[in-house]
Amino acid sequence: MHKNKLNHKLNSKLDAVSVALKKSIKNLDSYTHVRGESLYVDDVNVRQGTFHAVVFDSPKAHGKIKSIDYSKAEALEGVERIFTYKDVPGENEIGGIIKDEPLFAEHEVHFWGMPIALIVAESEFIARKARGLIEIDIEELPVITTAKQAKAKGSFINAPRSFSLGDVENAFKDCEYVFEGETFSNGQEHLYIEAQGAYAEPLENGTIKITSSTQGPTAVQKTVANVLGVAMHKIEVDVTRLGGGFGGKEDQATPWAVMAALATYHLNQSVKLILNRHDDLRMTGKRHPYESSYKIGLSKDLKILAYEAEFLQNSGAAADLSPAIAERTLFHATNSYFIPNVKTTVISCKTNLPPNTAFRGFGGPQGMFVIESAIAKAASEIGVSSREIQEANLLDENDTFSYGQIAKKVEAKNTWDSAKAIFNSEALEKEVEDFNKNNSSFKKGIAFMPITFGISFTNTPMNHARALVHIYLDGSVGISTAAVEMGQGVNTKMMQIAAQVFSIPIEKIKIETTNTTRVANTSPSAASSTADLNGKATLMACNSLLERIKKVASDDLNTSEDSITLKDESVYVNNKKTELSWTELISKTMLQRVALTENAHYATPEIHFDKTKEKGHPFAYHVYGTAITTVTVDCTRGIYEFDSVKIVHDYGKSMSEGIDLGQVEGALAQGIGWMTMEEIAYNDEGKLLSNALSTYKIPDIFSVPKEVEVIPVETEGNDMAILKSKAVGEPPLMYGIGAYFAIQNAIKAFNPNYDLKFHAPMTPEKVLMGLYKN
Ligand code: MTE
Ligand code: HPA
Ligand code: MOS
Repeated sequence: MHKNKLNHKLNSKLDAVSVALKKSIKNLDSYTHVRGESLYVDDVNVRQGTFHAVVFDSPKAHGKIKSIDYSKAEALEGVERIFTYKDVPGENEIGGIIKDEPLFAEHEVHFWGMPIALIVAESEFIARKARGLIEIDIEELPVITTAKQAKAKGSFINAPRSFSLGDVENAFKDCEYVFEGETFSNGQEHLYIEAQGAYAEPLENGTIKITSSTQGPTAVQKTVANVLGVAMHKIEVDVTRLGGGFGGKEDQATPWAVMAALATYHLNQSVKLILNRHDDLRMTGKRHPYESSYKIGLSKDLKILAYEAEFLQNSGAAADLSPAIAERTLFHATNSYFIPNVKTTVISCKTNLPPNTAFRGFGGPQGMFVIESAIAKAASEIGVSSREIQEANLLDENDTFSYGQIAKKVEAKNTWDSAKAIFNSEALEKEVEDFNKNNSSFKKGIAFMPITFGISFTNTPMNHARALVHIYLDGSVGISTAAVEMGQGVNTKMMQIAAQVFSIPIEKIKIETTNTTRVANTSPSAASSTADLNGKATLMACNSLLERIKKVASDDLNTSEDSITLKDESVYVNNKKTELSWTELISKTMLQRVALTENAHYATPEIHFDKTKEKGHPFAYHVYGTAITTVTVDCTRGIYEFDSVKIVHDYGKSMSEGIDLGQVEGALAQGIGWMTMEEIAYNDEGKLLSNALSTYKIPDIFSVPKEVEVIPVETEGNDMAILKSKAVGEPPLMYGIGAYFAIQNAIKAFNPNYDLKFHAPMTPEKVLMGLYKN
């Protein structure tokens, strides 16, 4: 174990029990995962007579529907019924933030893959066959596929937003250096292993129960109710777990659930709708591509005095979460740097692509790529290394973010300096330099990537959660929250919380499915805040129960409440073990008619944001870190291999080291994929070309870095984080941005005339061009 990590452990004030727990803890879902026993939507026991559905979607990106002939499809044996917008009893609308997205197209189509009808049949096979028999005639309209085209045509989702700090206009005048440029970052396919899907079944009195692969059960419930024109209490949404979401199921799990429910509503029979991979790739939105421009001004001593950026977000054909994602781009536009004069603007551009949506980082990565590009450009022009500019501008305690929040407990310099020291970055840089001197057909590049990521939903009212905790008569515990397990390990973390409070083994705790009848009006599991919000609520509920049962114990043992502690399933008085066990205490509590159930509500304190001023304190805290990426480029072929990514990451005090390390590693791979190899391609007609895994390449075991080292920085932790264990889901994705610049530095080592391009992903084709073109 690394020294730093060891110190971190020794310094930890957690008691021995919790240290043992966190060291030994694995993602408890792994047991059922490896046995193939974990349950997903497709594993739900379906009722006899269940129908299967397939979506009929637009074969054009933009146009007027002149006619659709369903007759052949309807005549196919086994086809039960085909539903269109005409069958919607409530509102044909699924837009969450802006009501601009019909469930089914009515008279126009706005993207290739836009749902038009739902074919319900005895089997999926028949429904698919029927889909091929539908004849549609579309009068084509001009197609917009890029944000720039949309801007030129004035096609927007909503009004632009701007953040500003200081006075950029004047600050640029004082700068020794000013550089301008443009950048592009492409979209990214979520590629969750479990495709989108839902199963709807009719219960009594018009109630419909939906099992959905969603990050947002309440969004599903609310939208189904609205489309069906029924009250929310008629709709129950249940989620066992997701085979990955990555943001792609925050909003976009909803339409499929709504369609299945609509068919159930009409047929009074269960309906299952699970997209196959092709349908999923074509019909769902992805990470937003961004076309951006920047202007950066520096002083002689490399201080960034002014920064201006305009972000053109390719939002797709409807708003979906684009406005919230655009906002987060502004929040993270200056990454880990303090810049006294900032003006950033984001414009959500309406195009004829599937509505783009949440994806790990939620617009933050797109903003951070631009400032890193601006720094790389400045460094190259001035003739210094990016590292020098980055280092000269790192955020400090009490610096102001452009949105008005004052930076507190900042770890930017700490993680940076620790990374330099622990990994001996000077030696690493020297190695790269020596290698490049001695090799002509292979070149190495190295890049630093600091990250700062704000934790909380940027929309303040969303930062709340509830937990419903039952202690059963035998002392076992059941917990319901809004947390959706999608592989990130949140269920394990919540079990740890209860196990720690009650001091009982983790086997005695069960996390129930996420269900809208047990925990209502919830925010989605997103923004890396699931464990903080739901964990805090769980902690509160468990603590209330603990107080209550301690009172029973003190009465029973004739002592004061303060003298009672629970440890390893026994009751202790003044640290002396008594005969009274956890289980006996629970049954005594029940006999005393004291409630063994608690429901707690947590709302993040302190946060606020005023959109009229674009100022406030939107984040509970920030997560920091620094990565050093080294790559070797094969200058004959343009291919590359990452030698190592060395990271110092701010976990606060990790409550589950194994899980958190998995999150860092997974996010890093996903970030590298976005920056280097994952290339979404639409043609000019708006048809998705990268519509299979043969044309869309994500990192595999051969393309992840040969070495990934993650060292936890010693930090105090933050009380806003659950048990001081900071949110970890999204921030490490942005370490992957370092991969782009490491490759770029290797190209520069080979081709000193290389004209820096900021056009991600940096695919081998682009590398090759960079190596041999000016
Ligand atoms: N990890 C796995 N294995 N699967 C996922 O779908 N989603 C990511 C991240 N890590 C995801 C994941 C995203 S986009 C978010 S916002 C967080 O997990 C959500 O979970 P958390 O709030 O518990 O961190
Ligand atoms: N992150 C993720 N999802 C969200 C957010 C956010 O900040 N705001 C609304 N949905
Ligand atoms: Mo994550 S993009 O907030 O689901």
